[in-house]
Amino acid sequence: MQLAESPEVGKVLIGAEGIQAKIAELGAAISHDYAGKDPLLVGVLKGMVLFMADLIRAISIPLEVDFMAISRYGPETEALGVVRVIKDLDKGIEGRHVLFVEDIIDTGLTLGYLLRILRARGPASLAVCTLLDRSVRRLIDIDIAYKGFDLPDVFVVGYGLDYRQRFRNLPYIAELRPVRPMRG
Ligand code: IMP
Ligand code: MG
Repeated sequence: MQLAESPEVGKVLIGAEGIQAKIAELGAAISHDYAGKDPLLVGVLKGMVLFMADLIRAISIPLEVDFMAISRYGPETEALGVVRVIKDLDKGIEGRHVLFVEDIIDTGLTLGYLLRILRARGPASLAVCTLLDRSVRRLIDIDIAYKGFDLPDVFVVGYGLDYRQRFRNLPYIAELRPVRPMRG
């Protein structure tokens, strides 16, 4: 079966061409703002990998990339955004211009926690770039310097975003349609 024909894949909210056009704009703005600053683009695995791959190709100035991986402890700490860092950045970021690249900002709790960790390491600057912003669910204030699209309160899949680790390889962003198991 073709992935796009899965019953869970609902309405396409942002098409592949729309994503790429927006990334071209973001890349141009970042290239302008960070000229001469040798920025370090940081992403948290795995959702942002497609966005990161396309974004850096839309940026025309020298840059570096680095990645972190996290795991969630459980429902008690989830409300605080506290996560365990299972892969940290390869190098220190003191004095660097760091641009944090996110696929989607939802409650903002995890991002808020990670930004506090990174800020404590003394970067020259620390800003956020996100492809998607679901601000209706935001619980803490996050300053977003570069934003792709606003999202309504629907769960989405595709272009890196998963539902149970699936659908990351759709080239567009679609609504997830919940599928009820058939009664036997
Ligand atoms: P939060 O901002 O701390 O609530 O967490 C945001 C993270 O939750 C994102 O980095 C995604 O990994 C995941 N996430 C939130 N909304 C969606 C969605 O609609 N589809 C897929 N993953 C999502
Ligand atoms: Mg993510």
